[in-house]
Amino acid sequence: MDSGVAGMTSVEIIVFKPQHLDDVRALWEFTEGIGVRDNETDERILVFLERNPGMSFVAISGSKLIGSVLCGHDGRRGYFHHLAVNPDYRRYGIAELMFDASMAALAADDIVRINVVAFSDNELARGFWTGVDCVERNDLSVYSRDV
Ligand SMILES: CC(C)(COP(=O)(O)OP(=O)(O)OC[C@H]1O[C@@H](n2cnc3c(N)ncnc32)[C@H](O)[C@@H]1OP(=O)(O)O)[C@@H](O)C(=O)NCCC(=O)NCCS
Repeated sequence: MDSGVAGMTSVEIIVFKPQHLDDVRALWEFTEGIGVRDNETDERILVFLERNPGMSFVAISGSKLIGSVLCGHDGRRGYFHHLAVNPDYRRYGIAELMFDASMAALAADDIVRINVVAFSDNELARGFWTGVDCVERNDLSVYSRDV
């Protein structure tokens, strides 16, 4: 896939492979709005990628990793995690390209609906998710605990 973004080395959207993990972690570290928990070890991320092959993507410009998304499903619903684009490359449609690639992979597995959890004060997340036609649900609560 090629974005053809004007004024920028063309951006490739490719499947997130284990060898991208270090660069993705570096992106997460300086991306506000991404809450990476201590228990999200490399091993756990690799398990996620293995369980959901071809659904998570990275964006590459030249040799630089500038975006990533984790996507998977449980057989019923699709889920997105840790969507991030380097601040220098935002509002060029790069997140949407990764999202579209993941949505195509979900559709190929007959998944018909997705859910996304974001911090409620994350305006970038709100702008993006509503910008790609997701409806913000105010009638639901998210419940979490450790196993
Ligand atoms: C959210 C994020 C990934 C969006 O990346 P991006 O590449 O800039 O997004 P895109 O350019 O693909 O945006 C696609 C559409 O989403 C909407 N959108 C994206 N960012 C927006 C913003 N800041 N405000 C309003 N709408 C926005 C727009 O409709 C946009 O289309 P348009 O530019 O033609 O109007 C990026 O801002 C980011 O990394 N934020 C920090 C991490 C984060 O909060 N991630 C979400 C976790 S749930």
